[in-house]
Amino acid sequence: MNSRCSIIKKVVIQEVIKIIISASILSADFAKLGEEVNDVRSAGSEWLHVDVMDGHFVPNISIGIPVVECLRKSTDMFLDVHLMIDTPEKYIDDFIRAGSDLITIHYESTTPENIDLCLDKIKESGKLAGLSIKPGTDVNVIFPYLDKLDLILIMTVEPGFGGQKFMSDMMDKLDAIRERNTDIYLEVDGGINDETIKIAASHGANVFVAGSYIFNSANRKEKIDLLKG
Ligand code: DX5
Ligand code: ZN
Repeated sequence: MNSRCSIIKKVVIQEVIKIIISASILSADFAKLGEEVNDVRSAGSEWLHVDVMDGHFVPNISIGIPVVECLRKSTDMFLDVHLMIDTPEKYIDDFIRAGSDLITIHYESTTPENIDLCLDKIKESGKLAGLSIKPGTDVNVIFPYLDKLDLILIMTVEPGFGGQKFMSDMMDKLDAIRERNTDIYLEVDGGINDETIKIAASHGANVFVAGSYIFNSANRKEKIDLLKG
């Protein structure tokens, strides 16, 4: 693509695709999760990002199916469920039934056949399907699945923990995706704050997960407003 085309494409992307903030409850106070969710909803977060970790795929354990079920009963927020678990095909039906709106699985978590199986099940259920890659994974592995995907999640930290530093060298992956697809949801996760969001947005990202930046502040609305620029 020549540079003129590339500039036009970037302008089109920014005009057509609205920015979405997905507040990650990994940094919330789990003892009062319902209140925390209501707080970020009224502060302007469009989606709620739910990080599911199994202690195998990532070196941390977080929450699972019962929490998604409870969230579904208690909020109308869009539930953006990020599965950081091995063999997601074993649990995909449960996460669909629990009331997720979008389920993102990791490319590295299972076989190519099972990635297809999971994506097909998610799509058949009428939910949105996402695929994510860790920082060390080549972006080209995603392209064979593009037709089945509503969202691609580019990790901008090693998955497992909140509060890490944004990896700006992941931006080439965003460029490579936008070269091929201009209207897919392109999400970034890890180290997002009011500075790094600008970097990722300038490379075509339009869904921004933010955990510690939002939840560690007493004034969540101020933080979300700053993210939205
Ligand atoms: C990390 C999780 C993230 C995490 C981001 O593995 O996938 O969603 O909550 O946290 P921050 O925004 O603090 O980097
Ligand atoms: Zn996440």
